[in-house]
Amino acid sequence: MNVLVFASRKGGSGKSTLAAHLATYIATPERKTLLIDSDPQGSLSFWHRIRGTENPALKHNPRDLAQTLKTAEKEGYQWVLIDTPPNKSPVVVEAIRHATLVIIPTRPSLFDIAAVQDTVAIARELRKPYAAVINGAPAKRHGEEAAIVADARGALNALKVPVWAGQITHRADFSMALAEGEGAEEFDPGSFAADELGRLWTAIDRSIKAVESYKGRGTRSAA
Ligand SMILES: Nc1ncnc2c1ncn2[C@@H]1O[C@H](COP(=O)(O)OP(=O)(O)O)[C@@H](O)[C@H]1O
Ligand SMILES: [Mg+2]
Repeated sequence: MNVLVFASRKGGSGKSTLAAHLATYIATPERKTLLIDSDPQGSLSFWHRIRGTENPALKHNPRDLAQTLKTAEKEGYQWVLIDTPPNKSPVVVEAIRHATLVIIPTRPSLFDIAAVQDTVAIARELRKPYAAVINGAPAKRHGEEAAIVADARGALNALKVPVWAGQITHRADFSMALAEGEGAEEFDPGSFAADELGRLWTAIDRSIKAVESYKGRGTRSAA
């Protein structure tokens, strides 16, 4: 079972948005998917009520995360996505403790990038793989990313923070889909929003496979 944790102490960076869109993208009958809304604000839970289906399933603010994850694994869940509150509370640390991969959404702005470092510090301390994802970016022009995105990427590289090579653009489709209780792919499968999400999913899936093979090597060399 793979656990993706969406974390950043900056509110509005896109944790809940990416968690909802990715969960709907991942959830198929072959890939049983659970969302855990660990933010007392409950944005994801609100979206899930509008959605009105159990695909993906959602649990709000579980008291005992470790137990909830154990049960999920027994129930055959393959993917768990945990949305966290915009702070550095014990809830965030506990979620990261259980992460296969920590995803740190960030807007391409100085203050957001400063906030990324706090989450990075927790992930590094707990020795968890993590990556920043640039969200809410201006659209590319003629295939070129905006200067502000290139600057953000440069700043993240200078901090030695791995950052996804793509971007999630600021698009009305992302918020309109959520208002309907949907993900971008369901809302409009041919859209740019759905395409970006598909690329993000491919990158995450690859990273997870790399983490697994790295762990596998570790086990073999220890044997
Ligand atoms: N790529 C995007 N395009 C358009 N709107 C976005 C995008 N990402 C986030 N938003 C909007 O920005 C607001 C904050 O995003 P949210 O996911 O709630 O942030 P967080 O969970 O990190 O606090 C929401 O209203 C959301 O719909
Ligand atoms: Mg949120």
